[in-house]
Amino acid sequence: MTHSLLDDALFAAMESSILPTEEAESLPPLCYTDAAFYEFEKKAIFSREWLCVGRESWAASPGDYFTSHIADEPVLIARGRDGVLRAMSSVCQHRAMLVAEGSGKARAFVCPYHHWTYALDGALVSAPAMERTCRFHKEDFNLPPFALEIWEGFVFINFDRDAAPLAPRLAGVSQVLRGYDLPSAEGERPSDEQRYPWNWKVMFENNNDGYHASKLHQGPLHDFIPSELAEFPDDLPDDTAGYYRTNRTLHPDASFNATQRAVLPVFAGLSAEERHRMVFANVPPTLSLVMTADTVIYLILRADGPESHRVDQGVLTAPGAKADPAFAQKMAMGMLAAGEIIEQDLHVDEMVQVGLRSRHAPRGRYSWQEGAQRLFNTWLVPRYRAAWTVADGDA
Ligand code: FES
Ligand SMILES: [Fe+2]
Repeated sequence: MTHSLLDDALFAAMESSILPTEEAESLPPLCYTDAAFYEFEKKAIFSREWLCVGRESWAASPGDYFTSHIADEPVLIARGRDGVLRAMSSVCQHRAMLVAEGSGKARAFVCPYHHWTYALDGALVSAPAMERTCRFHKEDFNLPPFALEIWEGFVFINFDRDAAPLAPRLAGVSQVLRGYDLPSAEGERPSDEQRYPWNWKVMFENNNDGYHASKLHQGPLHDFIPSELAEFPDDLPDDTAGYYRTNRTLHPDASFNATQRAVLPVFAGLSAEERHRMVFANVPPTLSLVMTADTVIYLILRADGPESHRVDQGVLTAPGAKADPAFAQKMAMGMLAAGEIIEQDLHVDEMVQVGLRSRHAPRGRYSWQEGAQRLFNTWLVPRYRAAWTVADGDA
């Protein structure tokens, strides 16, 4: 049965969100609050788009693995003895226990419940005391595999194994990231995920928003990147899988710490012009990058409900940056500044979710400095409409 709030009128109303920025308005508020809309998004977005789950370096050697969880699907990433990195469901095909949690090194995955054992490639290799079970063939119970692709050192998976490759549709974004050489940038796997009580798009839009930089974050930690120096590319192809914006800085080699300047090695491939700006790159629905001259902060957003999501937040630095004896202290300078800025953002995000539940929640109009919100809309709305049209046709 169709949920009463999801109807043709809702999807027709989204058209105004992809008009030019000066004419556009934000998405209907129920897209951020409604449980049926989240279920719809699971089909329209999460079951067919490429989803970032981590960095390739998190599973560098045979037997290394890590797990994730996105849109209600537990995911296992493991590097096989053959050196191939694979993505699969971590749901045991016996009675649905998770065969792996966290991260580590394994020779095989032994389900803790009844010890069904899976090889690193997900093949079920042993299932104790199943010999009397009729019509039971081990090969029918492998861990379900997902598509996997590496882009800029990040691991992306796709629940649709026939999905078109990601990288060709990110060529325009890769171009602007080239100077950072992200495949060789270094950083530890973040130890703790955060769980936040607001819709994943509220988080995405906050990270995507240059308008608030000089307002919410006004002060000595953020003033080097004023909102009026925001720039939005107009040359990305229509089928781009991601987008970016740049923001010129008041001085070169700027970074988030109390000195407002890079204290770690500047990414070696950046041109003089690139050293005079920050880049904010987004690959919806999961990956958001904030790039200064010496650090790249990445957020991996993992929706897990209509009004909640989880985030893996990590930092990448130029190769060899750790050799600096004061690396830890310099990173701490950055974290102190970023922590203060992030606190301001998190408070806004939480209150925006409260506002979006209100009967007075607006279809808001945009400033030119919110060009990237409109870019996000142009990514979302055609996908929503395509999935709705198909569902409609099936009905
Ligand atoms: S649920 Fe995994 S072995 Fe039974
Ligand atoms: Fe912010």
